[in-house]
Amino acid sequence: MRMRKKRNLEPRMAACAEILLARGKPCKNLKEAAENYRAVLDMGTVFGNDGPVELEIGCGNGAFIAELARRNPHVNFLALEVCTNVILTAMERTLREGIPNVRFLNIPAEIAECYLAEGSVRAIYLNFSTPLPGSTHERQRLTSPRFLRIYAKLLAQGGKIVQKTDSAPFFDYSLAQFGANGFEVREVTRDLHASEWAAENIVTEYEANFMAQGKPICRLVAVKLKERSD
Ligand SMILES: C[S@@+](CC[C@H](N)C(=O)[O-])C[C@H]1O[C@@H](n2cnc3c(N)ncnc32)[C@H](O)[C@@H]1O
Repeated sequence: MRMRKKRNLEPRMAACAEILLARGKPCKNLKEAAENYRAVLDMGTVFGNDGPVELEIGCGNGAFIAELARRNPHVNFLALEVCTNVILTAMERTLREGIPNVRFLNIPAEIAECYLAEGSVRAIYLNFSTPLPGSTHERQRLTSPRFLRIYAKLLAQGGKIVQKTDSAPFFDYSLAQFGANGFEVREVTRDLHASEWAAENIVTEYEANFMAQGKPICRLVAVKLKERSD
């Protein structure tokens, strides 16, 4: 279902300008988008410190990143979301709640490299990315090989991806892709809320819905392996 454009969208986006680092249209021609929008950000300047940087891709309403940022005040967080209507909710929450260590990118993950320097991120969170079943949309799946190549570039040596999903087939697909594309998978559970990682878990908007339906949540950590020199 197509979401109705939010009322006063543009003035409200403008009111969030201080925490919005980039705004790019989803483009069919990503090569062209990459050329037009290339503007790699200096994180020290953005955050005013040299702290580590972590990135959520597909941040939705921003509840997860807000809580993660509250729990980790010395870490700098980036929240990336393609949908302007949706990121507006997340940015307004951040400003309303006075959270100082989160900034936003309203861009498709496909062009994240245009804004984020190689090796500049120590963790990436993929929370309930759309599973996109079937083979037609495999390229759009956020754990398909082309995205894993982008994440591997953005991640520092030893950096990690934390993925959560309610979809067992998507989880199986992701496990296989991480294993085949230079990541070591650790801390795997198919029932997060009954696992040793339950206590530290931050429940996202979609996660709460799936929990209410009684669905178990899958979760993994994929660590970037050292590139081979041979
Ligand atoms: C199913 S929602 C999950 C939202 C949130 N992470 C949660 O767990 O509540 C997936 C989100 O990812 C965003 N998304 C999907 N593909 C994306 C892409 N290629 N780049 C950036 N965001 C994307 C969607 O707009 C949507 O807000």
